[in-house]
Amino acid sequence: MPRLTLTINGRSVSARRGDTILAAARRSGIRIPTLCNLEGLIPAGACRVCLVEVAGYPRPVPACATGIEQGMAVTTDSEPLAAARRTTVELLLAERNHSCAVCVMNRHCRLQDLAARLGIDHVRFAFISPLAGVDMSHERFGIDHNRCILCRRCVRVCDEIEGAHTWDVAGRGAASRIICDLAQPWGTSATCTGCGKCVQACPTGALFEKDAPTRKGTMDLAGLAQWRRSRK
Ligand code: SF4
Ligand code: SF4
Ligand code: FES
Repeated sequence: MPRLTLTINGRSVSARRGDTILAAARRSGIRIPTLCNLEGLIPAGACRVCLVEVAGYPRPVPACATGIEQGMAVTTDSEPLAAARRTTVELLLAERNHSCAVCVMNRHCRLQDLAARLGIDHVRFAFISPLAGVDMSHERFGIDHNRCILCRRCVRVCDEIEGAHTWDVAGRGAASRIICDLAQPWGTSATCTGCGKCVQACPTGALFEKDAPTRKGTMDLAGLAQWRRSRK
């Protein structure tokens, strides 16, 4: 496969044509923070945490959803980028009810981890504190919309890997919600196979197993995606 050369943080990097900036950076050992991205799934560009600067581009672009170009000069780490990432994460924290102390994912949560890495010890915005609802109707799993960051990992893994397309997003802006089938209780879904992939993919405590909540993150989703591609 033809290779392209670009610079990331001033370092010359060779990557495959068709790679995203995120993939090229990762292969070169350069870390870019992410939230909605999950290897093996089509990028959604939903969270904007992975924003990077590209010389000649008018504004930062999401590294997970932007393809590389020959001669591209990328900056992944700058004071404006750090400020933008802090603001994004603070807004996510303010938008729903992330009470870490009483969450099944406390100390295993990607949002919590990212906030800590960005040095967020308080939120500058007013908390919206919506009553977003909890659905415990499924036999084995639950969804707490109060902890959902609308990353769409569950939507994509259920659609692209499991092929069930149980989840979708309804509404706009702050009123957006993840919905099951025709906006019905999860336990009444006609499409859900009970595979648990959405629970594994969720980066927060929004989707959880009722009996073994700490088992999250153990499924090899990237391996499953590769297996599915090899069968096409
Ligand atoms: S358990 Fe599997 S089929 Fe059911 S909603 Fe989650 S990913 Fe889709
Ligand atoms: S339920 Fe979890 S995986 Fe789905 S959109 Fe919300 S935070 Fe993301
Ligand atoms: S990880 Fe790139 S936009 Fe979310």
